[in-house]
Amino acid sequence: MILITGGAGFIGANFVLEWLARNDEPIINLDKLTYAGNLETLKPLEREARHRFVFGDICDRKLVSMLLNKYQPRAIINFAAESHVDRSIHGPDDFIQTNIVGTFHLLEAARAYWSTLPEDGRDSFRFIHVSTDEVFGSLDAKDPAFCETTAYLPNSPYAASKASADHLVRAWSHTYGLPVITTNCSNNYGPYQFPEKLIPLVIFNALSGKALPVYGDGRQVRDWLYVKDHCAAICKVLETGHVGETYNIGGRNEKANIEVVHGICTILDELRPLSGTRSYTEQIEFVKDRPGHDRRYAIDASKIERELGWMPAETFETGLRRTVQWYLENGNWVQNVTAGTYRAWVDKQYGTTPSTSAS
Ligand code: NAD
Ligand code: TYD
Repeated sequence: MILITGGAGFIGANFVLEWLARNDEPIINLDKLTYAGNLETLKPLEREARHRFVFGDICDRKLVSMLLNKYQPRAIINFAAESHVDRSIHGPDDFIQTNIVGTFHLLEAARAYWSTLPEDGRDSFRFIHVSTDEVFGSLDAKDPAFCETTAYLPNSPYAASKASADHLVRAWSHTYGLPVITTNCSNNYGPYQFPEKLIPLVIFNALSGKALPVYGDGRQVRDWLYVKDHCAAICKVLETGHVGETYNIGGRNEKANIEVVHGICTILDELRPLSGTRSYTEQIEFVKDRPGHDRRYAIDASKIERELGWMPAETFETGLRRTVQWYLENGNWVQNVTAGTYRAWVDKQYGTTPSTSAS
């Protein structure tokens, strides 16, 4: 049994779905169901005995300890986070609370549980902390890509909160011997991403006839990885990663934002053509830049490729086409997660405050 946090969010839910499609081992999925967490994504698992969903907060150490003692997982994978840079600029409080304080409580609960395990259980236990390349700051055009020894220079409140969490995880390994591994991944895209991040937002707005907002000059570069490739990398790290190490994960797919937006428009022009000779590119609008906007991220993934034998299966071109197709075929999911009725259902089902015990 493994314990996942944040498994109703974009990457966590993809991980849970992939895991249960390939493994018999059950999952406990602890999630606070913020605006970014959607049980809609986990609907196919409604009658799945190997999936146990727990509505709760990683800051609730009592709840986490109870779950650890009750289910005795062999590993924790921490996906739970506030993850949107723009939201972190408007209101950093939740980022400090969940990303830093939440990780601290999770580490303390894990340490207490781990110390009660028999020796072989202690040796094989893993705490996998899922982090981001944004902790390394911003690159200039000619700089080499981030590697595991690149210094941390976080620029946004989001990046700083993730960097803080990474430091806590490292310290819990160094000081207490907790068997942790941290992964730092580049920008993900794919099915079930909440439509406020660039790729799903552009698809959603294009289909709704709305403007496609490109910040600043649109020349900022991100290194894109298809979400299922990220999930496969985390599985590799869980099974064969070396304790105390960090692994950079990325797809060697550096693209300027404007190229990404054009790529989506080209696929939509083919799959869902507008009338006459019109193109979705006509909806592109350059808007005010994000404050402190990082210019370029790029990941050198050679360590995980060399040491753990991980390679991404998708190129950006194949992954983007799959993603656009998925959004075209899953309009209901988008409707449900954006309409607000879904949130109302969650409040009705669970009440507005997360429970402090597993149901
Ligand atoms: P997301 O915002 O889609 O999902 C986060 C999930 O965590 C949601 O289900 C939310 O309800 C849950 N959550 C938030 N606060 C919680 C709390 N206090 N207790 C329990 N659950 C809580 O994020 P994502 O894109 O799936 O990212 C997952 C992880 O991967 C994050 O740690 C993020 O920093 C990291 N990451 C994301 C990307 C990316 O491009 N999306 C890239 C690299 C790393
Ligand atoms: P985003 O998906 O928010 O991820 P991150 O900020 O973590 O990299 O944004 C990806 C890039 O796209 C980033 O450079 C900001 C840019 N962007 C836009 O140009 N327009 C938008 O509407 C959004 C949401 C992002």
